Amino acid sequence: MTKITAAITAVGAYVPEFVLSNQVLETMVDTNDEWITTRTGINERRLLKEKGKGTSHMAIKAAQDLISKANINPEEIDLVIMATATPDMPVAATGVYVASQIGAVNAFAYDLQAACSSFLFGMSNAAAYIESGRYKKVLLIGADKMSSIIDYTDRATCIIFGDGAGAVLFEPNYEGLGLQDEFLRSDGIGREYLKIDAGGSILPPTAETVANGQHFVFQDGKTVFKYAVSGMADVSEKIMERNNLTKDDVNWLIAHQANKRIIDATANRMGLDEEKVLVNIQKYGNTTSATLPLLLSDFENQFKKGDNLIFAAFGGGFTWGSIYLKWAYNKQQ
Ligand code: UT7
Repeated sequence: MTKITAAITAVGAYVPEFVLSNQVLETMVDTNDEWITTRTGINERRLLKEKGKGTSHMAIKAAQDLISKANINPEEIDLVIMATATPDMPVAATGVYVASQIGAVNAFAYDLQAACSSFLFGMSNAAAYIESGRYKKVLLIGADKMSSIIDYTDRATCIIFGDGAGAVLFEPNYEGLGLQDEFLRSDGIGREYLKIDAGGSILPPTAETVANGQHFVFQDGKTVFKYAVSGMADVSEKIMERNNLTKDDVNWLIAHQANKRIIDATANRMGLDEEKVLVNIQKYGNTTSATLPLLLSDFENQFKKGDNLIFAAFGGGFTWGSIYLKWAYNKQQ
């Protein structure tokens, strides 16, 4: 029997219209464009401003973009995995609502939360379901409304994050294309350094937690930066080594867009030339679960069938990892 591999066969994306530039941030907190650009690589980010709209709004738009571009029947989707750190509400799962809204009436759905590695870990989930032969169409969506958990008076976090969504479809492939290998890691030491203190089961919401700003993201940026640089570079080097990939064999690095300096450090360790390192952090900032599919969407035209893509991410928890995937199609122009 021919081995089934799990290939990405379609991509979709959505970002909200509202742009928050570095120049506007200068009027909100004690920061400046030069600092943000040189320390992070970010020029602007998108924010979902419409009242009453949550992460599902962007996830639905990204999924609909994919469905219309790839011309697929949503009734054929078997499973929707919603990678997000900012669900519409703590309970019920956002993916379930999204699946119903896009007409995936025969699918089951769930949410997956691994902070900025949610989409990467979701790729592993989606691929396993396909490789086992159990399902034929798995829709993986990465979406986050980071603006709902950011304190716009905290310059340590508000300059970094943005809102957005991306989606990919995984289907069986019989030519050996798609996901080849993965190296995924986590370490609970990280929960001190990047977290939201309140609103969970340890510290349920009270008037006091709200007054203390404990429902916003706290990040010890310096410590996270240190772990992210070594973590992302280590796993990317490791996945190249164990698949006998040289720097010339790698066509594209699809790295989580948290900080341009972290991406550069990973690319340097892999020995990659600049043109292979995909970057759109300047436009969107860190959109958490959406960074990887937004890169796929922005650069889809450049990928060729058989190209070797290395995905890498690092996130709160800590969670991190790397995935080696062979691209499965040439886009119709
Ligand atoms: O996606 C999930 C994982 N997250 C990440 O990977 C993020 C990792 N961390 C980072 O990207 C960086 O640590 C930050 C961008 C958050 C901060 O950059 P940094 O180079 O680590 O800055 P720092 O915190 O070491 O601060 C350097 C200086 C300090 O001033 P002094 O003490 O040297 O005088 C800060 O007070 O920059 C100052 N600073 C700022 N200045 C202007 C800190 N934030 C700002 C700001 N604007 N927004």
